[in-house]
Amino acid sequence: MARIGIFDSGSGGLSVLREIRKILPDERFIYYSDNAHCPYGEKTAQYIIDRSRAISDMLLSKGASAVVVACNTATAAAISTLRAEYDIPFVGMEPAVKPAATGTKSGVIGVLATAGTLRAPKYLNTRGKYGGNIKIEEQVGRGFVELVEGLELDGPHAESVVRASLEPLLDAGADTIVLGCTHYPFLLPLMQRIAPSGVSFIDPAPAVARRLRDVLTAGGVSLSDPDPGVELLASGDDTTLKKLFTLI
Ligand code: DGL
Repeated sequence: MARIGIFDSGSGGLSVLREIRKILPDERFIYYSDNAHCPYGEKTAQYIIDRSRAISDMLLSKGASAVVVACNTATAAAISTLRAEYDIPFVGMEPAVKPAATGTKSGVIGVLATAGTLRAPKYLNTRGKYGGNIKIEEQVGRGFVELVEGLELDGPHAESVVRASLEPLLDAGADTIVLGCTHYPFLLPLMQRIAPSGVSFIDPAPAVARRLRDVLTAGGVSLSDPDPGVELLASGDDTTLKKLFTLI
């Protein structure tokens, strides 16, 4: 029996929960959207560490035996602190630079992420590792999180916001775009419409789901709970969370 805590600055982490439930359908999940403090992307690392601690304490008090940090920004800022301070496993996000670098034909990949993720040492190390033979272009998905939290996943305004960050990557020749923020997969249909057909988008969520399953298995945790399902919690208004949950 396992209860899995999962959190994000908002509803973006639902794109990770979607992939986790595909391979762990019988678990009990407690999803926490910290939308009263969203976005995390421009906040300091210390602020995000403090929020991640408070949320982890709450998830543990609700019986979580593992926590998924379904937020690239919080993973980059806080996961090493969380791992050092708590006894349970934490599984985090990793921008999918490696598969993008391996798969690109044009030799240019694009990374879309928050400012916090792009300046974090964790990302800079990854970049250093794979940036030798290929070109890595980066853009902050400005306004993307606000679109998703506002349930504006399409339409002329959403399109112009998405174009402003996506087009510079396409113009630079990127044929593979890494979705480095868990909110962004909700804008994928729009991005696919904007991008030429040869461009592919990589979401690390399926790999994160497999990693969680491996961690639970290695820890001897049963992969089913007598009371499977999802509990949705939010620090602010939960309208978006409940609505987006119906889309996953
Ligand atoms: N969903 C988050 C991420 O993966 C953060 C969005 C934000 O709060 O800025 O980075």
